[in-house]
Amino acid sequence: MSVICNPDSQNIKKAASLIKSGKLVAFPTETVYGLGASAYIPEAVAGIFAAKGRPSFNPLISHVADLDLVEELAVFDERAKFLAKKYWPAPLTFVLKRANKNPALDLACAGLDTITVRMPRHEVALALIRESGVPIVAPSANRSQTISPTTARHVEESLGENVDMILDGGQCSVGVESTIIDLTTPKAVLLRAGGITLEELENDLGEKILISHGNPDMPSSPGQMLRHYAPSNHTLRINAKSKEKDEFLIGFGEVEDANINLSPKGDLREAAANLFAFLRIADEQKEFSKIAISPIPENSVGLAINDRIRRASYSK
Ligand code: TXA
Ligand code: MG
Repeated sequence: MSVICNPDSQNIKKAASLIKSGKLVAFPTETVYGLGASAYIPEAVAGIFAAKGRPSFNPLISHVADLDLVEELAVFDERAKFLAKKYWPAPLTFVLKRANKNPALDLACAGLDTITVRMPRHEVALALIRESGVPIVAPSANRSQTISPTTARHVEESLGENVDMILDGGQCSVGVESTIIDLTTPKAVLLRAGGITLEELENDLGEKILISHGNPDMPSSPGQMLRHYAPSNHTLRINAKSKEKDEFLIGFGEVEDANINLSPKGDLREAAANLFAFLRIADEQKEFSKIAISPIPENSVGLAINDRIRRASYSK
């Protein structure tokens, strides 16, 4: 039986009681679907790692619906407050110093003395967090290292019976994960490019943000692992200026022989929203042996798109 449900108020109440009793609920956010559990129930948090096949050294983001909840979890300093007030709810996540010693959070934070927090810009996510009354830890609702889910159906295909309920909020509007910035250091550091652009953040902070390229053996943000977001059946070639034999070409902008196009008019936000769904479509093509993808400009949300496809294309 399908666990996909309409996010009406009755189902949100049901989802919240599942969260409060330590079960896993997948829910829509503006970026990708999240696999949620109460941050305060260690067994539930452990359940997330098990369902995803995620290594326990990879910490989770705590999702909140109001600023008071952040104070409960982290040192919420002036710089973080300024950015939160400016952007949230938004596809923007902060790494902050952890202020909450509750051992239940140790697993979610992978034993680090920092914690990541985000207020998502999606009515269903916010309603679920409010109704649950606890921070909801949620990684993307897919098996570890595979393509992130941007529809309820993707979640069901990837996690199946490992999730107790899936709230269906339609297709995610942003389509790539949140931007993560580390605010525990004097200079802010970008750990993951995402829905809020580097340009916007630098403009508001009035300073350059350092970019972490990470050490794949010691990821400070394990999203930096070299291979991630990978198609299961095909290899992926990036920066493809033309299509080679047996390739399924995902185009961007005016590309005549593209099999499918992320944004024929060359709009990076439209391309980001389509990215993961189109990678899945490409990966399902049996008559092609490889996937290729057109060059994507390295600015604005293009940074996030290029980051994802670079990792998706990585092979040893
Ligand atoms: O858009 C998003 O952020 C989605 C939705 C569901 O909110 N969530 C998401 O979660 O992408 P996940 O677990 O797939 O990615 C979270 C990233 C991981 O790369 C993790 O290593 C990093 O955040 N992270 C979590 N806590 C951290 C910490 N304390 N320090 C550094 N990186 C951290
Ligand atoms: Mg993920």
